[in-house]
Amino acid sequence: MRMEQKEIRDLVRQMTLEEKASLLSGADFWHTKAVERLGIRPIMMSDGPYGLRKQDEKADHLGVNDSIKAVCFPAGCTAANSFDRGLMRRMGEALGRECQHEGIALSLGPAINIKRSPLCGRNFEYLSEDPYLAGEMAASMISGLQSQGVGACVKHFAANSQEHRRLSSDSTIDERTLREIYLPAFEAAVKKGKTWTVMCSYNRVNGEFASQNRFLLTDLLRGEWGFDGYVVSDWGAVSDRVKGVEAGLDLEMPSSRGENDALIVQAVREGRLDEGLVDRCVERILKINARCLENAKPETPWDMEADHALSGQIAAECMVLLKNDDAVLPLRHGEKVAVIGEMAVRARFQGGGSSHVNCFKVTSLMDALQGEQGIEYVRGYSLASEEPDDALQAEAAALAAKCDKALVVIGLPESYESEGYDRRHMRFPKAMNQLVEAVAKANCNTIVLCYNGAPVEMPWADCVKGILEGYLGGQNLGYANRAVLYGDVNPSGRLAETFPLRLQDTPCYLNYGGEGDRAVYSEGVFVGYRYYNQREMPVRFPFGYGLSYTSFACQNLHLSADTLTDRETLTVSVDVTNTGTRFGKEVVQLYVSDRESTVFRPIRELKGFEKVALDPGETKTVTFTLDKRAFAWWNTELHDWYVETGDFEIQIAKDCRRVQLAANVHVTGTAHVPVRFDKDSIIMDIARHPKAYEAYLREKKPAMFEKERSEAAAEAITEEMNAAMANYGPLRNDLSFGRSGWKEINDLIDRLNEAER
Ligand code: BGC
Repeated sequence: MRMEQKEIRDLVRQMTLEEKASLLSGADFWHTKAVERLGIRPIMMSDGPYGLRKQDEKADHLGVNDSIKAVCFPAGCTAANSFDRGLMRRMGEALGRECQHEGIALSLGPAINIKRSPLCGRNFEYLSEDPYLAGEMAASMISGLQSQGVGACVKHFAANSQEHRRLSSDSTIDERTLREIYLPAFEAAVKKGKTWTVMCSYNRVNGEFASQNRFLLTDLLRGEWGFDGYVVSDWGAVSDRVKGVEAGLDLEMPSSRGENDALIVQAVREGRLDEGLVDRCVERILKINARCLENAKPETPWDMEADHALSGQIAAECMVLLKNDDAVLPLRHGEKVAVIGEMAVRARFQGGGSSHVNCFKVTSLMDALQGEQGIEYVRGYSLASEEPDDALQAEAAALAAKCDKALVVIGLPESYESEGYDRRHMRFPKAMNQLVEAVAKANCNTIVLCYNGAPVEMPWADCVKGILEGYLGGQNLGYANRAVLYGDVNPSGRLAETFPLRLQDTPCYLNYGGEGDRAVYSEGVFVGYRYYNQREMPVRFPFGYGLSYTSFACQNLHLSADTLTDRETLTVSVDVTNTGTRFGKEVVQLYVSDRESTVFRPIRELKGFEKVALDPGETKTVTFTLDKRAFAWWNTELHDWYVETGDFEIQIAKDCRRVQLAANVHVTGTAHVPVRFDKDSIIMDIARHPKAYEAYLREKKPAMFEKERSEAAAEAITEEMNAAMANYGPLRNDLSFGRSGWKEINDLIDRLNEAER
């Protein structure tokens, strides 16, 4: 039975101030508190995000102590490459069932912060460098999880894009960048995914801790986005608990052993904190917890083997084929293949820290290759050292030389990427890079299979024929690897982030991590592909990129209109055909490109994607609906989304670099940006406002210098300079250059303002 708002209010009315304050922090690491005399029961929450980390005793938030045996699904960095909302939903549903079985009411995830730099230690947990993709994937996972009656806790809100000084750093971000890049995924998680809870991050945002940031937790989350659940602090993120209550932080986790609860009581007693705000926090917590308890289904079975299989199926859909010269893949059964690299046996398949799952079993590549004819394995390198081992390398090259193909399995060791610290570089261990080069010399049919949670430099990319990016594939990665290597599954993953050529090329290379606590996001909206595209910079692999064993073609791009206003929607359709000989899946990507804008905008931004399954020769029509947001930027005068009237190109692309089809649409913005002219307004800006400019031209000609017709004068003042001088001239210049006096100038200003009213 659903607890009504009124019942909750009544319950809160019966509580003492102390009881209310006590409910605003955890009982222990994973439970909320109870109030027995009123029948208020605790709930249990657990990490997340891509596998259950339920701890019974000896709890911690860093993955130090053991949790129960569970199933590890592909990490966020991997899952996002699927570009498949249905798949995310299925993963959420499976996790939801597991939570039900284990009595977990809230699953702490998904983690969706934007990948500002490939160096962020936690990128493996996060989804993408693109806010639209991250938001869509997160919303799908949340819907799946919550369909099972288990709440999601989307994290870490907000702008938590580095681990360095993670409990104190101050993400300093301008308003437009925050709105366009760092917030939309959370907005989608709230509006589309309807997440029950949100976890605030450790860091400060523009000077204030996220855990006591009224703008984030109340004005935005609740006021603008309509969030009706509760906000949980990240574990230990609370600095000033009273400020937190005022800002809208409902639940402090894990606990402050009653000390912060007492501060809340004291602040209310001393009249420094409105008791009504405490009541609201309690009401919000009780409402969601009641929903969790009402939906609890402890009898739900947990078929671990089935989820292990599902984990492998999901991973197979997420692998990205990055290179496949001469169709070196798929492998043919019976072909002699040298499998080289210790990670083929001791796989790296998940990240470190609070998301670390205690797997009930792991299927490595070599496990999955059992029974396959023609496979021979050598170690190639030792995971115990980064330095090359000549003997192991020589043995590998010798084996490679006598096989049809060589498959080198490499990856980032656990210590290279983890929660708690950032990477310092983007390299694989030296031993692995050298091994690839040695093997590629010995066998021209060399394929590299990579396990990493974030982009890596691939200095050997041009020397090998095949590169298969496995990311962190979860505990059944071996199944997925084998299925894709042998072509049982046609690879269909697309990169959810750019692989730059080198670290120095990355957008925030000059200031990532910040100076002390101050991390200035000075690259603005130019994050990920938005930056590399703008600079036309070569990258190793672009955002959205990925190959298939078949081929696809897109045609018949059709727009429902060629002009519209920003109050209308545009329907875009395109036909996609499998032009090859195998079943496969294509990710149709839609980007919008603003042809002209008064603000700096990326040349194209992802605004739609669909994954389509096609038999050979089959064609399907894919349809997208674009609304105002697809064309808008965040206007800092209006403090709102704003469409600037003009032409936009709708682009259907293979990835963020390869546009296949394009069509133009003219969109008229309907928002009025209030404008006030004064003596310092320049002619160029007046000219942007048709009515004012008309009024201006009625009385004036732009103040061109009257040149003497001598050659020397023509050289000194070119036409371009003259035009520029006129354009950049403020209205007051008429005084300086003797064209009119203050009275006339002020009258003109009044008339311009009148015209624009
Ligand atoms: C992490 C969260 C996690 C929490 C509980 C924190 O250190 O940042 O993502 O949910 O611990 O383990």
